[in-house]
Amino acid sequence: MGVEVSVEGLTKSFGSQNIWRDVSLTLPTGEVSALLGPSGTGKSVFLKTLIGLLHPEQGSVVIDGTDITQCSAKELYEIRKLFGVLFQDGALFGSMSLYDNIAFPLREHTKKKEDDIRDIVMEKIDLVGLTGAEDKLPGEISGGMRKRAGLARALVLDPQIILCDEPDSGLDPVRTAYISQLLIDINAQIDATILIVTHNINIARTIPDNIGMLFRKELVMFGPREQLLTSEQPVVKQFLSGDRFGPIGMSEEKDEAVQKQEEAMQAAGIGGGGTKDDFSEIIPQVQPNPGMPERKAIKRHRERVHEMLHTLPPNAQEAIRRSQEEEDRIREEMDAHAEEQNGNVPVAAGQQSGEWTSADYAGSDAPTQSWSTPPGGGADNTITQPIDTGRHVQQPTDGRSQ
Ligand SMILES: Nc1ncnc2c1ncn2[C@@H]1O[C@H](COP(=O)(O)OP(=O)(O)OP(=O)(O)O)[C@@H](O)[C@H]1O
Ligand SMILES: [Mg+2]
Repeated sequence: MGVEVSVEGLTKSFGSQNIWRDVSLTLPTGEVSALLGPSGTGKSVFLKTLIGLLHPEQGSVVIDGTDITQCSAKELYEIRKLFGVLFQDGALFGSMSLYDNIAFPLREHTKKKEDDIRDIVMEKIDLVGLTGAEDKLPGEISGGMRKRAGLARALVLDPQIILCDEPDSGLDPVRTAYISQLLIDINAQIDATILIVTHNINIARTIPDNIGMLFRKELVMFGPREQLLTSEQPVVKQFLSGDRFGPIGMSEEKDEAVQKQEEAMQAAGIGGGGTKDDFSEIIPQVQPNPGMPERKAIKRHRERVHEMLHTLPPNAQEAIRRSQEEEDRIREEMDAHAEEQNGNVPVAAGQQSGEWTSADYAGSDAPTQSWSTPPGGGADNTITQPIDTGRHVQQPTDGRSQ
């Protein structure tokens, strides 16, 4: 089960350069949140501050009852074990093979035997579609592959909090969709609290339960996806529609004269290159793959949204009602389909009756391994905080057992 991350009044500067100030938000337990914002607004700095790699001048970051901005180095070390972090650049050790990079947290933080480590590493390598590349050095693979290796490493300790800095950068659109699906499935399986930093509008609109937006040194908004996806707030609206017309400029902000010119262009029917999607409708959220447990966060998220519904503008309230009805309909249809496929035997949480392949996440051109779940669907539980993956990896014949 994930843990809540509560940020209060956080301010960070480097020397005289203030990056952001007075940022307050709560990443709700087990929910998926996304942090958006133009390049250079300090999203990566925020992520690093959450794990205590950077130190804010003011404010607190409370995780599991500990304020990591104030705690001892020993406490911070313990708290960090709750995290799995995918850094923007992958942050792999250049002189280590992918295998050793991914095994690193297990060797550092657990007393597992190499055999057990191998099982976990190969499972994660397979999940991100890198089977066959485990002996390569980071310098020998593509940027997208490095990103996926970084994600595999972030997952080996089955973290309760997962931070992903632009998981999609360097990935083609199809693999981006698979990685997004993987994050949703992981969330369904272990109820981890997830924060995704992204520029990808499609991810922002379909993956997170909550969205935050950094702009001009401030957190412009943080709230349930429904609130931001229907927001009329100019910065949020411009960003989510990927349009060049609006307050966000090529450098941090635009002057008034430019904004006036843009308004005239818009009035004349010239577009700013953004999506023409109808923002009064919320796109249904991506659901866990069939056979995955239901996401526990959905119910909690709904309760929260329900409580705050009266504070939202009427268009948001209406969009929320419609999107929840649509999501219920989709879920019922998927359940009915799963029952049909399983001969009317409902699939229990964590169980997977079908056969899965690495291509389920890594794309159809990924080297394919297949595995199936033994009766009962139990995981081998060799990891510190066991994850019921419902999957057993077949060791590759040319693997590391030699
Ligand atoms: N260690 C550091 N020392 C000094 N300044 C830094 C440091 N790290 C980041 N910065 C500055 O903080 C600002 C925000 O950087 P950050 O990398 O967080 O932006 P970002 O929102 O993640 O951008 P992008 O979307 O391009 O990844 C930048 O101006 C950057 O130069
Ligand atoms: Mg960044």
